[in-house]
Amino acid sequence: MARRVLFYSQNSLCFLPPFSSLCSKTKHLTKTLHFRKNPSSSASFCRSYCYNGEAKPTKTEPFVLTTPLYYVNAPPHMGSAYTTIAADAIARFQRLLGKEVIFVTGTDEHGEKIATAAAGQGCSPSEHCDAVSHAYRMLWKDLDIAYDKFIRTTDPGHEAIVKEFYSRVLNNGDIYRADYEGLYCVNCEEYKVQSWIKSGLRDFSVSRASVEWGIPVPNDNKQTIYVWFDALLGYVSALLKDKEQPTLQNAISSGWPASLHLIGKDILRFHAVYWPAMLMSAGFSLPTKVFGHGFLTKDGLKMGKSLGNTLEPKNLVHRFGPDAVRYFFLREVEFGNDGDFSEDRFISIINAHLANTIGNLLNRTLGLLKKNCQSTLAVNSYIAEGNVFKDTVENLVEKARLHYENLSLLSACECVLEIGNAGNLYIDERAPWTLFKQGGASSEAAKKDLVIVLEAMRIISITLSPIAPSLCLRIYSQLGYSKDQFNAVTWNDAKWGGLKAGQVMAEPKPIFARIEVRKDGEGGGDTVQNEVEDNKRIKQTRAIAEA
Ligand code: MSP
Repeated sequence: MARRVLFYSQNSLCFLPPFSSLCSKTKHLTKTLHFRKNPSSSASFCRSYCYNGEAKPTKTEPFVLTTPLYYVNAPPHMGSAYTTIAADAIARFQRLLGKEVIFVTGTDEHGEKIATAAAGQGCSPSEHCDAVSHAYRMLWKDLDIAYDKFIRTTDPGHEAIVKEFYSRVLNNGDIYRADYEGLYCVNCEEYKVQSWIKSGLRDFSVSRASVEWGIPVPNDNKQTIYVWFDALLGYVSALLKDKEQPTLQNAISSGWPASLHLIGKDILRFHAVYWPAMLMSAGFSLPTKVFGHGFLTKDGLKMGKSLGNTLEPKNLVHRFGPDAVRYFFLREVEFGNDGDFSEDRFISIINAHLANTIGNLLNRTLGLLKKNCQSTLAVNSYIAEGNVFKDTVENLVEKARLHYENLSLLSACECVLEIGNAGNLYIDERAPWTLFKQGGASSEAAKKDLVIVLEAMRIISITLSPIAPSLCLRIYSQLGYSKDQFNAVTWNDAKWGGLKAGQVMAEPKPIFARIEVRKDGEGGGDTVQNEVEDNKRIKQTRAIAEA
């Protein structure tokens, strides 16, 4: 009985031999889940934390992308926002490719940890969950997160799905009653075992006798369903359509399997072992890919609620706006690796990339166009045939696309920024301000140069839009397009040649305000200005966003 364990290897599932003691406190190692070999579930590992199945979505299948469902024991911090920002960028990119996307996020609201947090706040678990879940949704709004489904594990529809799934696995003979003892960490909501995979995998317990705040086990009201067994199914119940009967059949037929689960590396075990085991037992397909990213750290330590060394995303967004926050974390931290936050670095990256390279390029080009061409394009942008700058832009767009596809978000940002750098170089070398003074043919050449640079700006506004959507909308609007036109763009529109002669550009206005720093006389280095300055900046950011 105590011998069924699961291990993935290239294209096959194997059952490993039994083992004796994983943990000195464990007294009973008996079977709770039986894992069936599933012909559709061949799998392989790629990179360090990425599990990649073989099933490829066909064209008509939606691209279903999930973030972890966040615990509501405490309000969101920058670590939890990080996965969601990355997921939103990926979802936006997939939409640009023309795919139907179902972007799922939500909150994980059951279990001992949540009940304890609620008691600490002096309120009922459900009141506590309502408040923290709401805080998550507000933060996602502030960060421009365009999710399609927000699932709460306390939703009645989700509860129905969990119960149905549990009964299905039970009927398949994969759940049995047994004592289970181990070193349990409430904070992680998991049993600790040393050398977990090395010693072989063991059955896991799917219910808790001592936890009241959870979904009751069908036909056994004395126990609740283990919070992970419950939460993982949120990815499925999230697919239910509004007011649809909450059945597994309905949920699964609305987009399962997921194309991509984005997770932090600490919860890989649940997604790459428990979750496939559960799905196989129930006879459902496995997700196509699980990608585990690294941690945001502060002074080298994982930023988190337990250590209390968190960074407040709400403050960052209010001070610097959503684009700066999104751009910084996706451009600064290689997706898959850990990355440290430093405010100095944040300011210097954002000023250099968004305010200078991109913002200034647009502003000075539009300024020249206003002064010399009444803000109107003199020629079609496709006249640039054979222009080396145009070739550079086209190469970079293609590279950015591949990087987005591979989830190399940092490299995708770099490619787009390179377009900005090349644009600055082009305009500096061509010096249209001098050409305009010369008049005649030189002036005509300068008019073309402005169109060429603005065409590159148009392409930047499309290719950077998954990362910094509001900023890109502002760029697009300055180029004389409407918000509806921006919302309708696809990756195909990033092809050279979109801007046409006669198009009238908007009044040049800074699209991104530089973050000012002041010299602290006695304190030494540069520091961000005090709260009064922050408030000034918040107003400035809002004014620009509203303009
Ligand atoms: N509730 C579970 C997930 C259930 S999914 C069915 C959970 N919640 S969590 O709120 O603790 O963590 C959610 C995600 O945030 C995890 O992927 C975790 O890795 C991520 N992060 C939490 N702190 C983090 C950092 N400091 N840096 C990056 N991500 C981190 O686990």
